[in-house]
This record gives sequence, C-alpha cells and structure tokens, in this order.
Amino acid sequence: MPTLGLNVDHVATVRQARGGKEPDPVTAAAIGELAGANGITIHLREDRRHIQDRDLKLLRQTVKTRLNLEMAATEEMVMIAARTKPEQCTLVPEKRQELTTEGGLDVITGFQSVSSAVHSLQQAGITVSLFVDPNPEQIRAAQKAGADAIEIHTGAYAEAREQASRDRELATIREAVSLGHQLGMTVHAGHGLNYSNVAEVIAIGGIREFNIGHSIIARAVLVGLDRAVREMVALLRQ
Ligand code: PXP
Repeated sequence: MPTLGLNVDHVATVRQARGGKEPDPVTAAAIGELAGANGITIHLREDRRHIQDRDLKLLRQTVKTRLNLEMAATEEMVMIAARTKPEQCTLVPEKRQELTTEGGLDVITGFQSVSSAVHSLQQAGITVSLFVDPNPEQIRAAQKAGADAIEIHTGAYAEAREQASRDRELATIREAVSLGHQLGMTVHAGHGLNYSNVAEVIAIGGIREFNIGHSIIARAVLVGLDRAVREMVALLRQ
C-alpha cells in the first residue's frame, strides 16, 4: 500500500504571511499523523520563505512517523540535515524566484555536487531520494549518484488538460517507475497531485510514497485538516 507524506509547507506559508506564530506546522504535523499520514514532509528553502529552522528542529523532536526533509544539494543544507537527522532527505532543485519547485533535479549536470551530497547524507544514516523528472537519463544518473530512491515529478501529468496528453504523461511515469525498480531504487511520486488526479497514478502500482501538500492544505482550509488528510489516506488505500 502506498504511503502518504504530508507536506506542511503551506501551513508555514500562511504563518509567514503575518510573521507571527499561527498556524504552526508542528501542530499541523501532529494532526496529520493522527489522521493517518505516514510521514511529514517539509522543504527548508535557502530563503526560508515558509519552513523555518525552528520548525525543522521541533518537527525532528515531535514527528512520530517519518520526517522527510526536502532540500537543495548545498553544503549548508547537508550540514543542517546531518545534524538534524531526518529519516529521509529528498534533494530538489531550488531557484529563488520560483513559486514552487518547477522541475526535477538535473542530476546529470550537477552530478558531482549531487553524488557528494548523497554520500554525506547516507554517511549520517539518512535515506536519500532524488526528485527527478520521469526521464530515463536522469533516473540512470540518480542510480549512479547512489540514491536510495527517486521521487518522480508528477507536475507535467497534473498540468495536462486533455486526456491524450494526460495518458501520455501517465505512460511516461509508468516507464519511469519501472526503470527505477529495475535499477534497484525505491520509487516515490509527488507534485501537483490532488483528490481527483491521484487515483490514476496510484493505479500504476509500485509507487511506495506520495508526497502531497498544496491540495491537502487547500482542502483543510475549508473542511479541516483531520478530514482532508483522512480523505487522501482513504484514496491511497483504495
Ligand atoms: N514533492 C516535492 C519534491 C516538492 O518539492 C513538492 C512541493 O514542495 C511536493 C512534492 C508537493 O507538491 P504539492 O504541494 O503540489 O502537492
């Protein structure tokens, strides 16, 4: 059964809008875990626009499932992760101006820095996943870099409007899942997944972990976080 990594970044986004204390992503993570999330995902960005160092520190102490830290493959982040020891780090590309992570990591171009970050994190006892587009060359490079897992970027599928292009994107994801397994890596997926588009990706089979944030937090504003998480967990278990 696939697991849910609940991304609570946008709880912090709302807090940062006023620079105060509420809502607290630490509280959101606890509610999410009680509602059935299998893990908590946060992205500590270089510009600290949502999640803060304080959140990472407290979540490390309070998360009872698994903590997945999304981060850029920089020296600063590797140092923070090695000190904090989340169960997993997911390396993502990061650009200052982007609204959210825009594409997968270019493991080929950044091979040296990515493989060195993978190695340092693994030395600290952390499982490492690389967020990549469903592109065979990138997936092969992820394996060469020593990654334990890949997280397939589902953004292009989520954004495809016509059925034909959705089907094309799904087929690409299916091939990426299969290649990831052939190369001995665990396969995760995420980005842009919501209550209406996740079922087709689950149906591919073999995806161990789904990292989902925006759609769950958006629904939580209207129906409450407990219900929003339970509804997503039910979809993953169907
Ligand atoms: N996975 C990764 C690697 C991401 O960077 C993000 C966005 O922070 C997500 C999953 C979650 O995407 P969304 O908020 O669109 O569900």
